[in-house]
Amino acid sequence: MTSNERLAQLTAERFEGLPRSCGNSVDPGVVTAADWRDWSRNETSVDQARIEDYLDRFPLAGKRILHVGIGNSSLARKFSDRVGEIVGISIDPPELARAQSLGLANYPTVERNKYAGLGLDIEGPFDFIIDNNVTSACCCLTHLLGLLDGYRERLAPGGQILTDREGLGWIPQAAGLNPRWRFTLEDLASVAELAGLSAEPIGANLVTLSCGGRSTPTAGARSASLVRRGAKALSRRAKRLRPRR
Ligand SMILES: C[S@@+](CC[C@H](N)C(=O)[O-])C[C@H]1O[C@@H](n2cnc3c(N)ncnc32)[C@H](O)[C@@H]1O
Repeated sequence: MTSNERLAQLTAERFEGLPRSCGNSVDPGVVTAADWRDWSRNETSVDQARIEDYLDRFPLAGKRILHVGIGNSSLARKFSDRVGEIVGISIDPPELARAQSLGLANYPTVERNKYAGLGLDIEGPFDFIIDNNVTSACCCLTHLLGLLDGYRERLAPGGQILTDREGLGWIPQAAGLNPRWRFTLEDLASVAELAGLSAEPIGANLVTLSCGGRSTPTAGARSASLVRRGAKALSRRAKRLRPRR
């Protein structure tokens, strides 16, 4: 069975109500809603924050990260001095402007609609691809499979795509989207399999997709992460206790 036939079967068996193909080759999956677009001045979502915490447990020297949906660029601010490169994607010019204003030489950003094809200029291999809202504004299963194919093609050996159950199960409220786009891990796994990726939970919330094995946090990097988090907690506490004048 070809992957197209498999997708047709999957649509009928599991995703009845979701379009197999939207027929939009211009701007598929571009949705305007206040709770979805231009995250440049908003707080990092809890799901992305969880992914950042997990990433912090890896030795990252020389690693390349593709961050899809850069929001307020907290990920780049936190990790740019520890990695080789972070390539950021957004469809919101204010997010790209904020990213550029940081002046980080190893943080190139690109305006790109992920459902319309990542493009030849977004070159792998990436050790981590981070997308906490893989299906949140998706248009059809064909474009979703195309996105996952694009991610797999750009993965380094041992690389992984990181997402989160909360982000996966969230859709922009105001956009009137089909609620069936609230994906579970099992939903994502069934489409990812067609792209040659296997899905695996990490703890209660995180989800990783990989092909042929993925790297895991090391003991040394985990301890360093604990020390960093402890130091941050102490500094926050000291700020709270400082007498006000
Ligand atoms: C709700 S914000 C989340 C921002 C950040 N990842 C976080 O969790 O804090 C959604 C992000 O996805 C990006 N986005 C929305 N639709 C997109 C699309 N079709 N292609 C690429 N990025 C998209 C927006 O520009 C924005 O950065």
